[in-house]
This record gives sequence, structure tokens and C-alpha cells, in this order.
Amino acid sequence: MNVNGKVAIVTGGASGLGEAAVVRLANAGAKVVISDLNEEAGNQLAAKYGDNAIFVKCDVTNPDDVSAVTQAAMDKFGAVHILVNNAGVATGGRVIGKSGPAKLENFQFTVNVNLIGAFDMLAKAAWEMDKNEEENGEKGVIINVASVAAFDGQIGQAAYSASKAAVVGMTLPIARDLGRNKIRCVTVAPGIFNTPMMQQMPENVRESLGQQVPMPSRLGDPDSEFAAFVQHIVENSYLNGETIRLDGAIRMAAK
Ligand SMILES: NC(=O)c1ccc[n+]([C@@H]2O[C@H](COP(=O)([O-])OP(=O)(O)OC[C@H]3O[C@@H](n4cnc5c(N)ncnc54)[C@H](O)[C@@H]3O)[C@@H](O)[C@H]2O)c1
Repeated sequence: MNVNGKVAIVTGGASGLGEAAVVRLANAGAKVVISDLNEEAGNQLAAKYGDNAIFVKCDVTNPDDVSAVTQAAMDKFGAVHILVNNAGVATGGRVIGKSGPAKLENFQFTVNVNLIGAFDMLAKAAWEMDKNEEENGEKGVIINVASVAAFDGQIGQAAYSASKAAVVGMTLPIARDLGRNKIRCVTVAPGIFNTPMMQQMPENVRESLGQQVPMPSRLGDPDSEFAAFVQHIVENSYLNGETIRLDGAIRMAAK
């Protein structure tokens, strides 16, 4: 599917990997609906693209917010072709701590955002994609964002890894399910990327993380590596039902 002239929704689009995808897709001629919790950053980013972007405040765990995102895309741009299902939280915590077992709310919160919010968003986006005319045999593309933690989660990542592994797990059945609707579903599992999530860490920690990547030994670049890959997935009609690691061959150690 060509990006030019299409309508893309990017969740978590106000920061990091999502922001890079917004910029890439907008520069390639897409109309972009930026959805995020962060109103200020989202509005600032949307303003750079004039009539070709809007910001819609959305908590992906709130079904009404999610419906409002697809509704805004339909009202403003008349269609949804691309979903970059990227909003996510990186939580941590051991199974048992000094004062007791892990707080169940933390596990539930992580799964609610990273898995249930992502499913709600993709189902509602797919409903709108199904209304599109086919272009070269397809109507839409869903790109989920998992993590290498889906495969090699570290100590403290039980909730995060479980939520991302579930995103990996639903990729094939969703691709099979939506095949009759001519909608593809592909998941990216990023390694360690240089986003605000990472920039909060001290320089020496980031450097040490970069050194753990076999080749190239550095953090990934949100624009030229993640967002460029998102664009490629949109453009390559034969990519479907698969999770692709984008990680410089890193395999995370236990800690
Ligand atoms: N940066 C990395 O190294 C890395 C690695 C693997 C996977 N990921 C995944 O990539 C995605 C983006 O990560 P990032 O590094 O750009 O993080 P980030 O924190 O820079 O951006 C995440 C964005 O999601 C938004 N968000 C959080 N909860 C939300 C909610 N409930 N509803 C709507 N928006 C919400 C935040 O406001 C933020 O703007 C996440 O799903 C993350 O798990 C990141």
C-alpha cells in the first residue's frame, strides 16, 4: 500500500517511536491522527503538519476514547488505512518484594494498556478499514509494536513481557481473521531504541546497553530504523501475520 494520500492513526504518537512514525508517514504524504495521553506534545506535533494531522487525546484503556480516535479519523479525513498500534508502558517489579507479593494492579495496568488497549484500537480501526476500496488487493494495514521482551524478558519484566508476548501471539490469528477483509497485521518487536523512555537513563547506562547489541553496537534510531521500517511494512504487501525483531541481534540477559 502506498503511504501517500492514506490516513494513518498512530497511538502513543506524541513521543519516541510513535512520534518518529508520525513524522515519517506525514512526510511521505499520509494524513495522520496522532493519539496519545500527552495533549501538549501531541498538539504541538500535529500543528507542524497543518491540515494533514490532528491530535486526539486518548487513553487506550478507555473504550470511549478509542472509539473517539477512529471517529475523528473518519470525520476529518474520511477513512482509516494504517494503524501504528504503538502506545505502551514499560513497567517493572519483581514477583515478590521486601514487603510482599507483587501488586496485582501493576500487572493489570500493564496488560490493560499494552494488550487490551491495543486490541480494542486495532478492532475499531479494522472496522473502518473494511469500508475502504481495495488498492492492489488491500484495504488496510495494522502494525503492532511489541518488544524483544516478548521473547527474552528480564528480571522484573513479568507483566511487560507477558503483555508484549500476547501481542505477538495475537498477530497470526488476527492476520488470518482479517485476511477476508484484505487487512494485514504485522508486529514489530524493537530492541533498545533511543527514545525518551531511554533518555531518562544516565548516559553510562545507555552506553552500556548499546554495547550489549552485537551489531551495530548502539541503540536503535527511531526515525531511520523504526519509522523507516514501519513505512516499509505499509508498502510491502507480502508482509503479513508475522512478528519481526528489529534489534541488532540483541538477546537480553536476565538483568
Ligand atoms: N524504546 C524502546 O527501546 C522500546 C523497545 C521495545 C518496545 N518499545 C515499545 O515501543 C512503544 C513506544 O515506546 P517509546 O520508547 O517510544 O516510549 P515513549 O514513552 O517515548 O512513548 C510512549 C507514548 O505512549 C503514550 N501512552 C502511554 N500510555 C498510554 C495510554 N494508556 N494511552 C495512550 N497513549 C499512551 C505516552 O504518553 C507516550 O507518548 C511502546 O509500546 C514500547 O513498549 C520501546
